[in-house]
Amino acid sequence: MSTLNLTATPAEIGQAADLLRQGQLVAFPTETVYGLGGDATNGAAVAAIYAAKGRPSFNPLIAHVASVEAARRHVRWSDAAETLARAFWPGPLTLVLPLAPDHGIASLVTAGLETLALRVPGHPAAQALLAAVDRPVAAPSANRSGRISPTTADHVRAGLDGRIAAILDDGACPVGLESTIVGLAGAPALLRPGGLDADEIEAALGHPLRQRASTEALSAPGQLQSHYAPSAAVRLNADSPRDGEVLLGFGDMPCTRNLSAQGDLSEAAASLFAALHDLDALGRPIAVAPIPERGLGVAINDRLRRAAAPRDA
Ligand code: TXA
Ligand code: MG
Repeated sequence: MSTLNLTATPAEIGQAADLLRQGQLVAFPTETVYGLGGDATNGAAVAAIYAAKGRPSFNPLIAHVASVEAARRHVRWSDAAETLARAFWPGPLTLVLPLAPDHGIASLVTAGLETLALRVPGHPAAQALLAAVDRPVAAPSANRSGRISPTTADHVRAGLDGRIAAILDDGACPVGLESTIVGLAGAPALLRPGGLDADEIEAALGHPLRQRASTEALSAPGQLQSHYAPSAAVRLNADSPRDGEVLLGFGDMPCTRNLSAQGDLSEAAASLFAALHDLDALGRPIAVAPIPERGLGVAINDRLRRAAAPRDA
């Protein structure tokens, strides 16, 4: 299959929406990372997502919709969901809620779970696309399973060219880290730190989020330890590079590439995956400077620990 390059004009967004409604796969930008979209009501389309990514089938997907109203059709809504949706949607937040009886979602999306992960992205191209599709769109990050998430159309193409119908290119993703995932099937719980600072979520709820216990392995199954992995070895909390290493810096320091010379965590989040992609292409081991464990630094360090974790060949 040759992969179409589409741009975010109304005509080409319309073309992308038609492809999705026909059961084809289209990668599209969100403010977090590029997603690999397929019609969430079409089991064959969802199966094709897993195949294109080479993703283990037990790992469920996020359904993307254009509005809070569209989200409510598929799940049992709650007061906490209303509070968080009103505060943060559209935006870099995913809510996990119990499926409604007539949810219409293909069971492969949830990998058989009784809950559904839902997100209303704020990126204008994603908004326009979802409104035109007028169905929930299942979309994991548009990378091959276990690899670094894509924040540009070039990253998507590097992993998925020839495996999907089209890529909707609208430049680099402004947040650069995947959405924060909050579980609302029970007491509100942080299932994955991400592009929305968990402190803001706690402030909106008026109480702390439960932290995911390590025994709840399936609560966000994508949280496999080795994930977001570049090909090169990654060493964390490095003050300076060792022989042969490239250094990914943070703050005012000599390095091969700097996440943010000003020490700004939002800027660092936005450039993290692109920096890992670029340094990985140099074919040398990657040392990474310490990143403060506060605000978006929590999610950045989460992704870096996964990038550095031991992995299978
Ligand atoms: O920013 C994002 O969230 C991006 C963009 C494209 O929206 N998507 C993304 O999808 O990161 P993915 O598939 O790479 O990660 C989704 C995470 C996985 O860790 C998965 O296990 C978890 O969401 N998840 C999905 N459904 C779930 C459910 N019902 N319960 C708990 N976790 C769930
Ligand atoms: Mg992913």
